[in-house]
Amino acid sequence: MIPRAIKDDIYWVGFIDWDRRLFDSLIPTPHGTTYNSYLIKGSEKTVLIDTVDFGKDEFLLNALEMAGVKKIDYIVTNHAEQDHSGSLPKILAKYPDAKIITNAKCKGLLESFLFIPEEKFIVVEDNEEISLGNKTIQFMIAPWVHWPDTMFSYLKEDKILFSCDFLGSHHATSELFVSDEKEVYLSAKRYYAEIMMPFRTMIKKHLERLDNLDIDIIAPSHGPLYNRPSFIIEAYKDWSSDSVKNQVVIPYVSMHGSTKAMVEYLSDALSKEGIEVKLFNLEIADAGELLMALVDTATIVVGASTMLVGPHPLAYYATYLVNAVRPKTRFVSVIGSYGWGGNTVEVLKGLISSLNVQLIEPVYIKGYPQDIDFKLLDKLAEEINIKHKEIGLRR
Ligand SMILES: Cc1cc2nc3c(=O)[nH]c(=O)nc-3n(C[C@H](O)[C@H](O)[C@H](O)COP(=O)(O)O)c2cc1C
Repeated sequence: MIPRAIKDDIYWVGFIDWDRRLFDSLIPTPHGTTYNSYLIKGSEKTVLIDTVDFGKDEFLLNALEMAGVKKIDYIVTNHAEQDHSGSLPKILAKYPDAKIITNAKCKGLLESFLFIPEEKFIVVEDNEEISLGNKTIQFMIAPWVHWPDTMFSYLKEDKILFSCDFLGSHHATSELFVSDEKEVYLSAKRYYAEIMMPFRTMIKKHLERLDNLDIDIIAPSHGPLYNRPSFIIEAYKDWSSDSVKNQVVIPYVSMHGSTKAMVEYLSDALSKEGIEVKLFNLEIADAGELLMALVDTATIVVGASTMLVGPHPLAYYATYLVNAVRPKTRFVSVIGSYGWGGNTVEVLKGLISSLNVQLIEPVYIKGYPQDIDFKLLDKLAEEINIKHKEIGLRR
């Protein structure tokens, strides 16, 4: 792909992966993605910021050739994950004088993933700077967005923040900068939900740090660049805040329709109470859409029928996933149906140990729901409404 000028002597040299449809063997990426690599030609030193995924090396090497690069002095590696570091060995082979600049944690990971030898590294500390002659890069170590090794690189004179995965999106587009904020907002929220949400506390700290930085452009390692940085910074401030929406998310599975009848009834009852409901039939749900809904929902109700004495595996999986991404959700409950016996509710409760939530009494019934069961669901909807009001949520 051709190098694209961001500012004088600063180029995007990445790869647009229009076809990528799954990331982390988990999250659908309906808009594809990009692996962003950046070239900075300083008056004295030439620097590459991150590389591209395994197997896309040729595209990066071609772009560097097109940009007339004869020598690379440094490759700044903001994060060791292979979608950014995968091409390092090929780049080092072509440009043998290049040194990798990174932090100690990232160095350790690159040594284990890519067998890069010790002497190739220059290790930097937080706030350390390197001079490229007329330009200066400042390093900001930013652990746990989303690995322990992550750092940002700030190009001081040009006010560009290379933010690594932080603030990024899986979004393939031919536009270098975000042109459709509405569309990229959703891709960035999907990305946040999967990758960043589990580290919400750290995210808040890193956002505060950015407040003190003069930023013209945010250049993440996935998705288009932001020339209106406040767009993505404000979105992250909202997502990572403590505020939740007057909303209930119901991921559910139902083999013969009993749990489904309960879910649909509860959904109507909650709507009557003025609460927004989002249903996810786990047989067909997109895991990314579910995680996006979890970003700001006040309550989650898992709908699970019993299979082989425990929760149906799809409900088990969804609950495990919810626990892993640690949304700021305040209340959780379970509804569903069994035939003769089991410990579905206990198993599901045991799966949410990482969530800081209040449990609302489950409605777990035998067979197909009857009038008495629907009344219990009415009570559950009322209870949820009371809880939402207690934390100040209103329609
Ligand atoms: C493969 C299979 C395994 C089941 N295992 C159990 C079980 O171990 N304990 C139980 O109480 N019911 C069990 N059931 C019965 C269902 O839990 C029961 O029919 C329930 O009402 C189904 O709700 P649903 O229609 O929402 O899936 C099983 C049903 C199926 C199809």
